[in-house]
This record gives sequence, structure tokens and C-alpha cells, in this order.
Amino acid sequence: MQHRLSGGIALVTGATGGIGTAISHRLAAEGATVVVTDVDAGRCEDLAKKLRTDGGQALGLALDVSSEDAWSGVVARVVDELGGLSVLVNNAGIAEMRTVENETQESWEKVIGVTQGGVWLGMKHGGPAIERSGGGSIVNIASIFGTVGGFGGQFSYHAAKGAVRLMTKNAALHWATRGVRVNSIHPGFIETPLSRELWKGTPRHTAMVEGTPLGRLGRPDEVSGAVAFLASDDASFVTGSELYVDGGWTAR
Ligand code: NAI
Repeated sequence: MQHRLSGGIALVTGATGGIGTAISHRLAAEGATVVVTDVDAGRCEDLAKKLRTDGGQALGLALDVSSEDAWSGVVARVVDELGGLSVLVNNAGIAEMRTVENETQESWEKVIGVTQGGVWLGMKHGGPAIERSGGGSIVNIASIFGTVGGFGGQFSYHAAKGAVRLMTKNAALHWATRGVRVNSIHPGFIETPLSRELWKGTPRHTAMVEGTPLGRLGRPDEVSGAVAFLASDDASFVTGSELYVDGGWTAR
């Protein structure tokens, strides 16, 4: 394993979920001190403990990404306790299985609040902290569903992920000369404990595998490898870009 993030401080949201856990392990293995955040404080501390047991440095903190107060508190604490911030991975996201027709205002606001609003608030509070720390990288986890219409469902999720794609480019231009790079990653269908439970054996699972040119679902570590690249100086000339980790889905 390379140590491209030695001395860095990385904050990951939604860190105890399927992909977030893989991202946290990878950034710690690359040498960063990882601030593991999610809604459940106990699960964050458990994952942070695991990262420390594996030889990494980590801190677990509760963070509801849809709350601006929570963001300002967590970023201030990270800067105070750890001395700065160099990498922010906006990974938290939720979806509802509703179409354009049966979407409700309540579910729309919930999905947009977390999946889109959480990324905006993360950049709003994390970006300046990264700039003040001497520069670094923001990686926003979007989705292939932020670019294409998918299966014609999960309407609010598509709205939010499409916004993440363009908020990324806009913020990249805002910080372009100030040392903060901003990029999005667009995973295709990634098999996590949750998605396995949800889809295995269903027609949707078959459609996901058959529609993916590589002929299989992706693994969380295939997303975390791309995150580590964009977070590191190997991507020093990469900003405002979108990286597809989708087994070829959007190439069709
Ligand atoms: P997951 O459901 O396993 O993890 C999501 C995490 O976000 C959970 O730990 C959850 O507690 C957390 N979360 C939910 N609401 C939150 C809030 N208000 N504040 C902070 N954290 C909150 O999902 P998974 O699969 O690991 O997804 C991670 C990211 O990757 C999401 O943004 C998702 O949309 C995206 N993605 C996932 C794909 C997949 O096939 N698994 C495909 C494309 C994108």
C-alpha cells in the first residue's frame, strides 16, 4: 500500500455504511488520520477503534450531514483537536424508491436534504477549513444515477445526485486558484451488505449485472481506490472532473 496521505487529516461522512467503511479503511491505510462520521456515534467510535487496531489513526464523531450546526461544530472540533483538515469525502446519501409521480414532499425533502444538502454543507464548512490548512481535496460521492435516468425510479435520488455532479464543478471553479480541488465519483452498482440484502435474487439484481459491461457488481474497495487517488497529490491537476467507477455502465 502506498502512503500518499501521510500527515493528512481526512473526514468521511456516512462512514459506517458499506462504501464509507471501505473508504475509511483505505484512507487510513494511505496514512491519513481519518475522522469517521455518521449519524450513530457508537458505530463511528467502533469503526475508529478498528482502524486504530489495524495501525491507523482515527477519531469517531457523530455528524448528521443535513444539519448546518452539526457541520460547523464537527469541523471546528477537528481543526482544534487535529490541527486542520486536508481531505473531505462527502459520501453520505439516502434514497427512496419513488417515481416522479408518487414522490411525496416529505420524502423529497428528506432525500434532497441529506443527499444534496449534506454535500453542499460539507463543502461550505469543510472547504474553507481545507484552504486554511494549506489546501487539499474534496471528493463527492455521486452516482451513475446523477448522470443517467437509470430505471426511471428513485426520482429524488437522481435529482440530488445530478446536483452533486454540478455542485462539484461549480465549487471546483470557486476554489480553483486557492488549493482546494473538488471532484465527483460516480459508482455504478456496488455490492454492500445492505444492497446485497435488498437486491439479491431480484429482477433488478439481474438487470444490474446484465447491464454492466464488466458482467458483475462492483466492490466497495474499487470505489475507495478511486477516492484515494483523487484525495492524493497523484491527482494534483484534476479538479471539477467526474470519475465513473461503474464497470462500463455509462459507456453504453
Ligand atoms: P449505505 O446505506 O451502506 O451507507 C450510507 C451511510 O450514510 C449510512 O452509514 C448512513 O447511516 C449514512 N447516513 C444516512 N443519513 C445520514 C445523515 N443524515 N448524515 C450522515 N450520515 C447519514 O450506502 P452505500 O452503498 O455505502 O452508499 C454510500 C454512498 O455511495 C451514497 O452516497 C450512495 O448514494 C452512493 N452510491 C452507492 C451505490 C451502491 O451501489 N451501493 C451506487 C452509487 C452511489
